Amino acid sequence: MTIQWQPQPKQAIALASTEDEILFGGARGGGMPDTGHAWLLYDIDKPSYRALVIRKNYTDLSDWLDRAQRFYFNAGGKLVGDTFIFPSACNSVGVIGDIHIPYQDNDAIEAAFAEMEAQKIESLFINGDMLDFYQLSFHEKDPRNVHFKQEIEAGRQFLEYCRYRFPDIPIYFIPGNHENRFERYLRVKASELLDMDEFRLDVLLHVAEYGVQFIPFRSKVVFGDFLIEHGDKIPGAGGVVPARTALMRLKTNCLINHFHKTSDSSQRVYGPDDSTTIRGYSLGCLCELTPEYLEINEWNHGFAILKRNGNLVQVNNYEIEGNQIV
Ligand SMILES: [Fe+2]
Repeated sequence: MTIQWQPQPKQAIALASTEDEILFGGARGGGMPDTGHAWLLYDIDKPSYRALVIRKNYTDLSDWLDRAQRFYFNAGGKLVGDTFIFPSACNSVGVIGDIHIPYQDNDAIEAAFAEMEAQKIESLFINGDMLDFYQLSFHEKDPRNVHFKQEIEAGRQFLEYCRYRFPDIPIYFIPGNHENRFERYLRVKASELLDMDEFRLDVLLHVAEYGVQFIPFRSKVVFGDFLIEHGDKIPGAGGVVPARTALMRLKTNCLINHFHKTSDSSQRVYGPDDSTTIRGYSLGCLCELTPEYLEINEWNHGFAILKRNGNLVQVNNYEIEGNQIV
């Protein structure tokens, strides 16, 4: 594993130590986490090697995991597990999804990005179905339509563009059911290639090159007291108000894409203590609104910006018409 990192003098002293135990402390956000990340690599070449990291609380652990992802990213390290928690230092996130490249709507994307820039989002989250993967579908399709190679190239260009528009903030991407067509295709038609690094979606999309953090399909994503889901775990259609459907199924504060329709819903929950209110949101899409396979629908363009104070999240769920937020 090759890591592009140079220790500071005190970090170098700690890492050169041959003692069984050392104490290494400092201010929050100082050099301690990266020293630990580097130290954990010492026995990485031993097949039976396992490491245990203990932090004081879950917030500290999520910060540690976030830094670890960045530290090991260029060397092909990847997060496994089913929960991604936004780092505690990140107080706002712009959420987009259902772009279905190459069937995206550029005006809608520009409207979303302009508002996110104006509000100075601290992270960007691409919540699935960034790509359509038309030719990998098991539905009937037109072989003259766009091909997989072109879709991958268009996906790379979009990630590059996201990085260009938001050069200094973390960008996260989680696949949706459309990107998962790729793994389903491999399973059915080329199972020998499954789990080869060269055929991983994050590798094909060059996410590391654009500094985009890839979150495995169907991971739980947590921002403050909100669950962010693509929405394909919810069985059946979204109904008239997809946010209501999501809220009744998930029974917690939640935000979903997948149904291409902006909606919100809330529910007071009666309990033994003070009653609480849970809230659900579904986001509009950023793709063409009248695809040939479903010309009549109730889709709309949209995106969301989430801001938090501590663990409490405020959701601004925007609808776009043409190139304007309405
Ligand atoms: Fe979807």
